[in-house]
Amino acid sequence: MNLKDKVAMVCAASRGIGFGIAKSMLQQGAKVIICSRHENDINKAVNSLKEETGGEVHGIVTDLTKSEQIEQLQEKCLAIFPQIHILVYNNGGPKVGEYDSLSPTDWVDLFENHFINYVKLISKFITHFQENNYGRIVNITSITAKEPHRSLVLSNVLRSCIHAYSKSIIENIAQDNITINNLLPGIINTDRVRAIHQVMADKEEISTSKVAERFKNLIPSKNLGTIEDVGDMCAFLTSENARYITGQSILIDGGLYKGLY
Ligand SMILES: NC(=O)c1ccc[n+]([C@@H]2O[C@H](COP(=O)([O-])OP(=O)(O)OC[C@H]3O[C@@H](n4cnc5c(N)ncnc54)[C@H](OP(=O)(O)O)[C@@H]3O)[C@@H](O)[C@H]2O)c1
Repeated sequence: MNLKDKVAMVCAASRGIGFGIAKSMLQQGAKVIICSRHENDINKAVNSLKEETGGEVHGIVTDLTKSEQIEQLQEKCLAIFPQIHILVYNNGGPKVGEYDSLSPTDWVDLFENHFINYVKLISKFITHFQENNYGRIVNITSITAKEPHRSLVLSNVLRSCIHAYSKSIIENIAQDNITINNLLPGIINTDRVRAIHQVMADKEEISTSKVAERFKNLIPSKNLGTIEDVGDMCAFLTSENARYITGQSILIDGGLYKGLY
């Protein structure tokens, strides 16, 4: 796989899975733009990506749940590079909670600020990709789109909407040399997961390493995924080698998902 001469926009990438994806793409020769909400964090991430890979990387401060900032994101990318070839849609994830803790306002927020902004962003990049007859899109979603978790109701629904939307548009874009796929992480060792371990450890008054051990034991491979595991798969899916893969939802979970399909 080779991403030389390609330019990628990786969303929500100052840390965690997005950061791992940006790193893998830079290692494969792509030029990369990353975004997230906090200027200090994005600057820090740009510097460490440059140091770790020696590649060309730029940062843009953007909140992906804000419509006006979504509108401007592509223009800001095109002010840095004349052509973008790859869009990786990643985001922080909606509010956590079981069904009876959610209000109608939470549902409106989910669709207005997460889903509709996702559609707006994708549409803008697709128009640009169609003008250039080339594009690769990967959405980072979650194993919970296939195996919903009771405390992640909003997330379960959002991820399923993104899968349905992606599958619905492939016939409109495939002839323009554009692919769109979903990557579904299982349990990946990031700040977010470590914070969940901490909350559970505090609640049960046990050590975080005990909680982490419990999570590892759920996974057939007996280890948590790394950001590089997700990054390398994403780099492959956005390479020219993956030209014939589109409309797919691919788990990256060490065997955690128990279903057949
Ligand atoms: N880690 C896992 O095991 C796992 C498993 C399945 C699915 N996922 C999903 O994968 C995604 C990334 O997870 P992660 O573990 O990498 O999380 P993380 O370590 O908390 O990193 C989240 C990244 O997203 C950015 N971000 C958050 N909200 C944003 C917003 N509104 N606009 C722009 N950037 C935003 C954060 O930067 P700022 O806060 O500075 O904006 C940060 O760079 C989440 O949607 C998560 O639900 C993760």
